[in-house]
Amino acid sequence: MNPWVLTFNDFDPKQIGLREALCTLGNGYFATRGALEESLADAYHYPGTYLAGGYNKLTTTVAGRTLINEDLVNLPNWLVVSFYPIDSQPNWLLSAKRLEHKLELNMYQGLLKRSSHIIDARGRETIITSRRIVHMANPHLAAIEYIIKPLNWSGEINLISSLDGSVTNQGVARYSQLNGKHLEVLNRIQINNDTLGLCVQTNQSHLQVALTARTQIFATYNCLAIPAKIQTTQETISQIFNFTISAGQPITIEKILTLYSSRDFAISECQIEAKTASQETGRFKNLLKTHRLAWKHVWQHCDINLTSKSPESTIVRLHTFHLLQTLSPHIIGLDVGAPARGLHGEAYRGHIFWDELFILPFLTHYLPAVSRSLLLYRYRRLNAARRLAKQAGYAGAMFPWQSASNGEEVSQRWHLNPRSNTWGPDYSFLQRHVNAAIAYNIWHYYQHTLDEEFLSGYGAEMLLEIARFWASLATFNTTIQRYEIKGVMGPDEYHECYPNANKPGLNNNAYTNVMAVWVIERALQTIKSLPSRRVIELKELLKLSDQELASWEPITQRMFIPFHAGIISQFQGYERLKEFAWQAYQTQYGNIERLDRILKNEKDSPDHYKIAKQADVVMLFYLLPTMELQRLFKQLGYTLTEKMIQHTIEYYLQRTSHGSTLSKVIFAKVLTPYKPELARELYLQALYSDLHDTQQGTTREGIHLGVMASTII
Ligand code: BGC
Repeated sequence: MNPWVLTFNDFDPKQIGLREALCTLGNGYFATRGALEESLADAYHYPGTYLAGGYNKLTTTVAGRTLINEDLVNLPNWLVVSFYPIDSQPNWLLSAKRLEHKLELNMYQGLLKRSSHIIDARGRETIITSRRIVHMANPHLAAIEYIIKPLNWSGEINLISSLDGSVTNQGVARYSQLNGKHLEVLNRIQINNDTLGLCVQTNQSHLQVALTARTQIFATYNCLAIPAKIQTTQETISQIFNFTISAGQPITIEKILTLYSSRDFAISECQIEAKTASQETGRFKNLLKTHRLAWKHVWQHCDINLTSKSPESTIVRLHTFHLLQTLSPHIIGLDVGAPARGLHGEAYRGHIFWDELFILPFLTHYLPAVSRSLLLYRYRRLNAARRLAKQAGYAGAMFPWQSASNGEEVSQRWHLNPRSNTWGPDYSFLQRHVNAAIAYNIWHYYQHTLDEEFLSGYGAEMLLEIARFWASLATFNTTIQRYEIKGVMGPDEYHECYPNANKPGLNNNAYTNVMAVWVIERALQTIKSLPSRRVIELKELLKLSDQELASWEPITQRMFIPFHAGIISQFQGYERLKEFAWQAYQTQYGNIERLDRILKNEKDSPDHYKIAKQADVVMLFYLLPTMELQRLFKQLGYTLTEKMIQHTIEYYLQRTSHGSTLSKVIFAKVLTPYKPELARELYLQALYSDLHDTQQGTTREGIHLGVMASTII
């Protein structure tokens, strides 16, 4: 077995969506799901193509509320290649029976192979094979080689090749009530007999995307100059080629795509560039050669060089592959962030969360320029973060929980519980800890690269503004003589407020408080380490006085951290919550990872219980070395022993449902010194979570980039 190849040997309609996500091909600039060429969006199939940073906002009225959704837009479907004997219907291929079906993802080459042996109602057997790439050397190209071999029949067929701009965002069932019609077709043209062009524009952000598709047909080595009939609808353009195929004689079709957008650099206008590029692409085999070479070079930099040929080594490659397809060197200099679900589907609408905390370490190690580029995505949104802080009554910069085009908060405020099919408020935007993640990444990047120019020019400003935000969020409680942070949510999204409280947010989430102190310390350390001329500039620029800086110091000495029974409490008052009947719920529901949905459906609330969706306090032990944490706690006037750390980890492990795939890999790391066997088991569960879709249906909506990245570093 080749550990670089992921193979699916059967055709199971229930697995189609999952395999489409897992077989997505991309190059950082854009990606296309591994949907079959003949498929259209339906209950099983979902061909999707996404441009990095390609967002659009729409408004929908649901249950009397106006909701705004900013989505990573599903772009025109360029995959469409299909055929049918002229005595049959256009859906002939989809309705034929599959005798054999195989998908093969070669991760070393970035190549998706498909082979189907089909038989129709009249006993006509055909073998269809295809090879597909999304070009890793030239990010504006993709290509399909599609071979039709009739086994026991000959006859006239119609072959269709289209660019379909009628697509909408409908890849996630629970968003189906939201408006998903993002595209307007500006034009669809025939460029020449081989080549079609389609240009679309998003209806709010006015992003233009131009595509061309050149389709050529070959018998052995000869290009058959078959004239195409052009068919258009309002939003699609197709070529129909009519010709005869003969039993045993394969016919090869090559479809080469060019894709440009109005956001590209070095262009006049995206349609011109797409058209010019379409004249220069050459044959599939040549594109494959340069594509393979580009992947070879990427792997030379980034492969972990596992010698084992175990199934796990293939998954490690799969995770690296999808990370590199989403955040390849092609993003360097582009204004794109790290989308939590890759460019592989529409879950979380392509938004950027704190998940970059788990994604950047790998990139910082192997491709530091990619990390730097992702940090600059945040830097460009520093003003938007200042605006958000100001609107919420704070100083400095408060980055949003969910970020997309312009850095405003794009978290949903109203959420559909798919279990109960009811809408309810969503307070996840109160996860201010995303700011600690951004600061952590800046610091980690600088420590790793010693990129002074970045720290001085961008990183320091972000660190200082985030520290300023934390300092303004912290209030001094004169009774306990300590600083507190109130009204936030920790990474555990199950707890949104105190039981029966009428306002959201919790007080003194331990993870948030400790990280706030850590960030303020790093900001103060940066001020001490930068050249004095730059410090003066930054102070002038940010109107940051010595007095203000001095006012941050006491926070690093007197921040409140809640404890109970010798362990760190997730938040203040946590100990008063009820214990949860884990066993009973497990028996009743089987999979109880999403306890929030189960409990809300029962008109109960996770707020009442000692339960967690994912690692929260435990994140501290994941991010900071024990000695560093012990120093911090000591400075705050608390004791933190190794035993307390172990007890805290075990305590929360027993109370965590792992409703986020991120959870298990974090527990795996922190448990390694204490319970290596259990740590290994959790790591393996995290490793298999997307391949086996352990969350039962979420991977088809997009891979989980955070967990993929954290399993490989
Ligand atoms: C997790 C968050 C994560 C988000 C995006 C949620 O389910 O709870 O921690 O940031 O998914 O991956």
